[in-house]
Amino acid sequence: MESSAYHPVPHPLDALARSGLAVLPRYIDASLADALREEIHAARVAAGLRRARVGRGKGRRLADAIRGDWIRWLDGSTEAQRQFLARLEEIRQEVNLALMLGLFEVEAHFALYPPGAGYQRHVDAFQHDNPRRLSAVLYLNRHWRRAQGGELAIYDKDDREVLRILPEAGTLVLFLSQSVPHAVLPTRRWRASIAAWFRVRQTDNPLAGLARLQPDDLL
Ligand code: OGA
Ligand code: MN
Repeated sequence: MESSAYHPVPHPLDALARSGLAVLPRYIDASLADALREEIHAARVAAGLRRARVGRGKGRRLADAIRGDWIRWLDGSTEAQRQFLARLEEIRQEVNLALMLGLFEVEAHFALYPPGAGYQRHVDAFQHDNPRRLSAVLYLNRHWRRAQGGELAIYDKDDREVLRILPEAGTLVLFLSQSVPHAVLPTRRWRASIAAWFRVRQTDNPLAGLARLQPDDLL
């Protein structure tokens, strides 16, 4: 037999390093996807979701025309969340070894898009001081069909669409937060996902926090 060492199977992180994007079908198994999807639907029934906002800091606002999803942050309070957060931690460590991005922590929220909702083309970390470096999106709906819309559309630097990804349960998409424009096309069906962002440590740059210092901070 030939040694596989000389013919390595392409690793998903190769795609991330080359093109800034990797698609990992069946990244989690169906039972974990089901458990996470049930959590977000239970949260909806219990009025435990809130409308997502756009912008940061003082500029945060509701913007129906831009994004129509309802969200809830993961807090690790259930076994399913802990399992998924552990998988994200694996990714954080692998990506740090392979791409040396210096990812320090992760934040993640459930997102539920009602029929008719989408999220217009955007980049996840636009402002220079945003610590998000790597975005991850996990899909939770079984049996998604193209006719149901709701695909993740990826654009190149000239805003030409280059790829559409079906939001099928278990698929994980990774992309660089600062440089990959993307959109959620209007969905015709309730669309459940988890969006996560790996962040660098904000104090890496000793000058980064200076502009935010208040006089009291110096006492
Ligand atoms: C986001 C986002 C993509 C998706 O929440 O910022 O772009 O496919 N989500 O849900
Ligand atoms: Mn996004």
